[in-house]
Amino acid sequence: MDTPVRPERRAVGQDETDRVNRGEWDRYSDEYQATHGPFLGDSGFVWSPEGTDESELRLLGDVSGADVLEIGCGAGQCSRWVLAHGGRPVGLDLSWRQLQHSRRIDDATGLVVPVVLGTGTRLPFADDSFDVVFSAFGALQFVAQEQVVVDEAARVMRPGGRFAFSITHPTRWMFQDDPSEAGLVADMSYWDRTPYVEVSEDTGRPTYVEHHRTIGDWVRALARAGFVLDDLVEPEWPPEHDRTWGGWSRTRGLLTPGTAIYVAHLPR
Ligand SMILES: C[S@@+](CC[C@H](N)C(=O)[O-])C[C@H]1O[C@@H](n2cnc3c(N)ncnc32)[C@H](O)[C@@H]1O
Repeated sequence: MDTPVRPERRAVGQDETDRVNRGEWDRYSDEYQATHGPFLGDSGFVWSPEGTDESELRLLGDVSGADVLEIGCGAGQCSRWVLAHGGRPVGLDLSWRQLQHSRRIDDATGLVVPVVLGTGTRLPFADDSFDVVFSAFGALQFVAQEQVVVDEAARVMRPGGRFAFSITHPTRWMFQDDPSEAGLVADMSYWDRTPYVEVSEDTGRPTYVEHHRTIGDWVRALARAGFVLDDLVEPEWPPEHDRTWGGWSRTRGLLTPGTAIYVAHLPR
């Protein structure tokens, strides 16, 4: 039986965040893949709970022949899409169990994505290794200092490379994580960066951590790392889409943005 947890806001550093979230994703992975795997597709590229599809948006540009890194790849669905479109993807994830699911899907599809266990804040790659770095709700909102992960992305990218990532829309942090109408009441400060932490009722210890930043924090981090911002996509909720995913639902999605996708590049 799952241990009951309570949401809190409290300070948590990177090492503790990684340790806690690795445990949580290892525990949750089987349920996550069973629940969301069919929606994501074994070789689909879904940016967000709105169903935002890379096949339509092409935010990464032409990936054919490109070296592509996915940070927080989960079971590698997006990287498999890159592979199917002629790219050379590598997936990195914090969770061993998520990567085991990636191997399971590799075997089932014959589309094999090389994967690495690691954290987005310490990428185990040489400078100038990739043409494209991306993350679809992967590591970016699980880091204590956004500058560290953005600098790491810039370091491993070649000049002219593209960086794109989706995260919970920063304005969502004003609301409780509730997909119903009750979740439409803003009762927390947009500017309060204190991490969101789920704490075990039994032990009092954190079981899950998310760090949030404002829209401007992300723009600043990108600029400081030398990126040029090309787009900030705020996917609209498709009126016919009626799938609830955590705090994302049609009820809220028709009124307020749930996802932000930053698209940037490094000058040549
Ligand atoms: C919501 S899933 C997104 C993955 C995939 N795009 C999907 O839709 O299933 C978040 C993933 O980020 C990984 N993750 C969390 N923190 C990370 C970190 N610091 N570095 C790398 N991966 C991380 C988790 O293990 C998990 O697989």
